[in-house]
Amino acid sequence: TRRVIIDCDPGTDDAIALWLALASPEIEVPLVTVAGGNAGLASTLGNASAIIGLTGQKIPLVAGADRPLLGTFRADVKVHGADGLAGIRLPQGPAATPGVASDAIRGLLRQAAPGSVTLLGIAAATNLALALATEPGLADRVEEIVLMTGAVGEGNWTPGAEFNAAMDPEALAILLAAGRPTTLVTLELTAQALVTPDRIAILRTQGGGCCLAACCDVMEAVPASRRLGFRGHPLHDPCALAWVVKPDLFTARDVAVQVECGSGPGRGRTHIDRWGRSGAAPHVRLLETLDADGFFAMLGERLANLP
Ligand code: BDR
Ligand code: CA
Repeated sequence: TRRVIIDCDPGTDDAIALWLALASPEIEVPLVTVAGGNAGLASTLGNASAIIGLTGQKIPLVAGADRPLLGTFRADVKVHGADGLAGIRLPQGPAATPGVASDAIRGLLRQAAPGSVTLLGIAAATNLALALATEPGLADRVEEIVLMTGAVGEGNWTPGAEFNAAMDPEALAILLAAGRPTTLVTLELTAQALVTPDRIAILRTQGGGCCLAACCDVMEAVPASRRLGFRGHPLHDPCALAWVVKPDLFTARDVAVQVECGSGPGRGRTHIDRWGRSGAAPHVRLLETLDADGFFAMLGERLANLP
């Protein structure tokens, strides 16, 4: 089993990603860290705790950044509501572990063997970047950095930038320069994992678990994406989880990636060089296609096994 630290900002799709993670025997989750993002940090932390609490598992949960390295914090309340879970009420979860996310990540890496821990980021990259930037010698403990971030083309937060990348481009730049195998799940990939009423209806027939029911509720509560012509809402973060759990659902190619850190309209834009035009050596694995039916089938199976 792979050891995967999850850094999240729940967030409706983060919730489903966490449930998928905790229902997947292929991975072990030794730590969950939280940042502000889809809502302010107090909400995302409470949500993460409630989401984990619903599974009955005891996973250390540590709060991290409530703002980016530079610039000001803005929550994505349009999609996830002011509370981050689109108004869905979950029972309160256990208290978070005291401490700071980046310290907790470093503490875990220090005890780990080389190449034995995957860092999976489904929020702004602040916590993960702080962990690696403040003790770069720990990077060799990292097996892979998997990030739901960026877009080849149009953004979903600004015209040019995807939300997680736009929230903290400097942090993303730090991770892209960390020199570890890195995999990107972009908006083009997640647009293939569209939640449609048909898919929710199938999930509802798949089991009686609270987690699965809550998952259907949160998916139904989120408006269909205007960017995708209202055909459905992309299940962004669970795609990153699916990559560590079932990589044969994907095809990929190696690319060079640069993130724009200026202050202009392109701030947070990821320049993804699919055709080698920059001359830079490819250093990132870009996930390009997803077997969406296989993905939703796996999601249904896994979530039905949760309480
Ligand atoms: C990303 O932004 C957040 O709103 C989602 O949880 C996901 O991590 C998609 O752009
Ligand atoms: Ca997220």
